[in-house]
Amino acid sequence: MEKARKLAEILGRVRDGEDPAKIRTQSRQLLSTLRLRDITRAQKYLLGSGLSLSQLRTLVYAFASILGDQFALLRANLPTGHPVRRIIAEHEMFECFLADLVDVNEEIQQAERITELSSEFRKLEHIAGHLQAKDLHDQREDDLIFPILENYPCSSICGVLQKAHWKIKNMVGNLTMAVNNFRQFEPEQFKIQIDTLSSAIVPIIREHIFQEDNILYPIALDVITDDKIWYRVKQLGEEMGYCAFDAQPCCT
Ligand SMILES: [Fe+2]
Ligand SMILES: [Fe+2]
Repeated sequence: MEKARKLAEILGRVRDGEDPAKIRTQSRQLLSTLRLRDITRAQKYLLGSGLSLSQLRTLVYAFASILGDQFALLRANLPTGHPVRRIIAEHEMFECFLADLVDVNEEIQQAERITELSSEFRKLEHIAGHLQAKDLHDQREDDLIFPILENYPCSSICGVLQKAHWKIKNMVGNLTMAVNNFRQFEPEQFKIQIDTLSSAIVPIIREHIFQEDNILYPIALDVITDDKIWYRVKQLGEEMGYCAFDAQPCCT
């Protein structure tokens, strides 16, 4: 408990603007002896209630700058059949589609002429289809994960993440709409629209996934210790399939 409190203090200093590299050097001994439990406890001290998105963002970067790959350890230790492993695998797939979106947007910006048969357009259509599954993935978090965390200190993060789900749903919806209405755009207008949407979608989804992987799920795994609850989440999740992997996105 003592270590967690000290770590919370350190993270609080980073959040308040102190140089992470300096703090890391000063606290080397403590950081080298941390266990995952200390980290999740420290997060709980810091989270409190009524967290805003910008506070969460600062906190997430404080964790990352001090703890580095500690969270990779948590992922590595998750049993293969655990439902959170599936969620994290989907996050990784979405990361791949985001990277593809960055590439295809660049290709579109450089293309002299685009038609519905152009390889760039078809690639974009394919990526947009997969990104639509993000909404179903988010719905699963809204319906299965957030309710079980309602009475724990991380409920304020759930509220922030839920709001982000709405924002992401709208942005991806606009991307799909632009692709479906390709013919109604002047070529230059289409390029601008895709560039604007990609530049908004990529950072917001990346940050969202980062927050879930690095804060939400480590805490969820720490506070929900009843295997029966995770088993139920797994069962319900299995009915939905794998978002972003299945030929037919889940829940359809
Ligand atoms: Fe989410
Ligand atoms: Fe997620």
